[in-house]
Amino acid sequence: MLTPAITSQASITAIGSFVPERRLTNDDLSAMVDTNNEWIVRRTGIRERRIASPGEFASHLAIGAVRDLLDRYPLDSGSIDGIIVATTTPDSPFPSVASRVQEAFGMNGCLAFDMNSACAGFVSALQTANGLVLTGAYRRILVIGVETLSRITDYTDRSTCILFGDGAGAVLVEHAAQGAFLASDADTIGAGGPLVYASGLSDEWNGQPLAGEGKIVQNGREVYKWAVTQVPLAVRRMLEAAGADMEELDWFVPHSANMRMVEAMCERMDLPLSRALTSMEWFGNTSAASIPLALDLAVREGKLQAGNLVALYGFGSGLSQSGLLLRWTIQSKTGR
Ligand SMILES: CC(C)(COP(=O)(O)OP(=O)(O)OC[C@H]1O[C@@H](n2cnc3c(N)ncnc32)[C@H](O)[C@@H]1OP(=O)(O)O)[C@@H](O)C(=O)NCCC(=O)NCCS
Repeated sequence: MLTPAITSQASITAIGSFVPERRLTNDDLSAMVDTNNEWIVRRTGIRERRIASPGEFASHLAIGAVRDLLDRYPLDSGSIDGIIVATTTPDSPFPSVASRVQEAFGMNGCLAFDMNSACAGFVSALQTANGLVLTGAYRRILVIGVETLSRITDYTDRSTCILFGDGAGAVLVEHAAQGAFLASDADTIGAGGPLVYASGLSDEWNGQPLAGEGKIVQNGREVYKWAVTQVPLAVRRMLEAAGADMEELDWFVPHSANMRMVEAMCERMDLPLSRALTSMEWFGNTSAASIPLALDLAVREGKLQAGNLVALYGFGSGLSQSGLLLRWTIQSKTGR
């Protein structure tokens, strides 16, 4: 697959995040299923995750992330003309989480919709926002990644319940004369659908029954092999399209599925692990929220600096993969 450099008139100008109060530690999980802290940390790098309270849904987390963004960056919320929410776990099939965010902030004259490409969702939403800004019809679009995966996690299955958590991250994609999005990448292998899924209105796949009764089911080993093979190739494609080298890449921000996967990807790219930004250690695998959570952790720690070359790469159920190479454009002093 050839990855073209992209035309862009967009850059990221603000960021915010929000996670539920309640922590679920590895020791908590050890009391629920046959596992232990040592196994979970060694195989996944995850130490704890956040779990939404009974009355807390995706819209509450998304609204929390947008409120955090608006608190930290001077911005008239009335000037926002688009809201795209990437999620697999909306409050309800409809109305969208995006329309609940619109209502919470009274953003009038706004395009608002949800999209779902699972763990690739946030990057797919950024690509979509770039396209909308390029038309000239939209100038300021909120892109939100949010999940309440605890609602579709089977807490009797030790191979999945150790992985997933809840959270939200939001960025503002704004029109910029000189776009900061340099190259994009995407692929989908629909035949890989049964490797990681949650059944819904249908519980069959091409005539074969799907298990799990709406909870997450996965073949972790096969997903692992696919991702650690494909993502390094894709990052190289994006760098090549933008005329850049791996040495010039300041930060690699993969979907935070499992730290061991990130290590394997970095090894295959000859990239030091210290140049990867992740969020799974404290939040687990939060699907569409994992990349913006990792970005915001890095902003708060002062790691991400304006001008940095950053490769975002989402991958997961679909099987879907989606990448974006960009220049980071937020001045660090405006972060908290
Ligand atoms: C899920 C994952 C952590 C499992 O790690 P793994 O090294 O592949 O482990 P396996 O599934 O092969 O299981 C190895 C052994 O550990 C056991 N095991 C599984 N989960 C365990 C747990 N939580 N605690 C202790 N042992 C566990 C298995 O039962 C198996 O035991 P056996 O050898 O006696 O049969 C790993 O495959 C993974 O992270 N995959 C990617 C998943 C992913 O990214 N999914 C979302 C898509 S975005």
